[in-house]
Amino acid sequence: MFKVNENYLKLPGSYLFSNIAKKVSAYKAANPGKEIISLGIGDVTQPLAPAIINSLHKAVDEMAVKETFRGYAPDLGYEFLRSAISKNDYAARGVDIAIDEIFVSDGAKCDSGNIQEIFAADNKIAVCDPVYPVYVDTNVMAGRTGTYDKETELWSDVIYMPCQAEHNFAPELPKETPDIIYLCFPNNPTGATIKKEQLQEWVDYANKTGAVIIYDAAYEAYISEKDVPHTIYECDGAKNCAIELRSFSKNAGFTGTRLGFAVVPKDLKADDGTSLNALWARRHGTKFNGAPYIIQRAGEAVYSEEGKKQTAEQIAYYMNNAKIIKEGLAKAGFTVSGGVNAPYIWLQTPDGMTSWEFFDHLLENANVVGTPGSGFGPSGEGYFRLTAFGTYENTIEALKRIQTL
Ligand code: MLT
Repeated sequence: MFKVNENYLKLPGSYLFSNIAKKVSAYKAANPGKEIISLGIGDVTQPLAPAIINSLHKAVDEMAVKETFRGYAPDLGYEFLRSAISKNDYAARGVDIAIDEIFVSDGAKCDSGNIQEIFAADNKIAVCDPVYPVYVDTNVMAGRTGTYDKETELWSDVIYMPCQAEHNFAPELPKETPDIIYLCFPNNPTGATIKKEQLQEWVDYANKTGAVIIYDAAYEAYISEKDVPHTIYECDGAKNCAIELRSFSKNAGFTGTRLGFAVVPKDLKADDGTSLNALWARRHGTKFNGAPYIIQRAGEAVYSEEGKKQTAEQIAYYMNNAKIIKEGLAKAGFTVSGGVNAPYIWLQTPDGMTSWEFFDHLLENANVVGTPGSGFGPSGEGYFRLTAFGTYENTIEALKRIQTL
């Protein structure tokens, strides 16, 4: 008889956003006719920009013609897209990333979950707390996290880096030395960012200790302040110690069409000289058959002049929502942060409510869905996340309801 991967049985409960979706469905079924506003999962609400749609249409038409039809995409992604990424996301910021250091994928969630596969099972991970749950869960699946303590909600073999209000929700260098460090800036869930010199400290630390940084920059397009780095490769020495993950979901609305990429520099080598770029290429070639041609063409359009202008307008739209939420909550007496360089607003739950108590309170009394901070880790207890990705009208309405609670 077959046996299952026992690591999966160690995972407590269901995935955070699946759990929330189930709760909301149950509430809707029990309360028909209630108008629920979702400011929970960070899913976009604006349609794909016209430049992207035009490119999609054109690519679809090409697929109908013998001469321009495309089958399997190249392992690393089409060169037209990788060149556009190299030029716009890196060269334009003074960073030299070659196109064979860029691996096109179907999104940063998959990449952030899969990238741990190229590291040894006994490597020790360090994560921020609170943290995007995929990093920890996928390491649990790989058997890298030890045992789970239900009381503390911590894994015995994970190094946690609490991110607290007194340090602007930035992590401090860990006391115990990790092998793999997960960082995400602008941060999901807190919306916090760190300045370039702070990120340089992490890069220097990783190079000194021989750790690798997995840097999730999915929200970089939301950075509005000058001294906040858009890519970890703005830091000296980052190509020797960091992998960067990017997404088209948040900057260009590809949550439903799926597109992302990982940068694995050729200078990034293990102790014995093994190239992580070669390992990831091997893994990509074996397990991934490429993002669809039409979607990669859509991704290329994000970097066209029109695409840049139109996606910048969408980002401004969401950031206006962020401002409305942040200011509206502050006016209602909440303690709030985030929302300046990120589409997430992080608030303290009122009246000593736990994160899940506040989730229920908000759902039942304001019919607004958010995300409980404790779902991102124990240091998120007593906090709550709202997203700016709703429509303007729903954002205004949600705030009105919250203010009258
Ligand atoms: C979130 O709400 O944290 C994100 O949308 C989840 C994701 O990007 O997978």
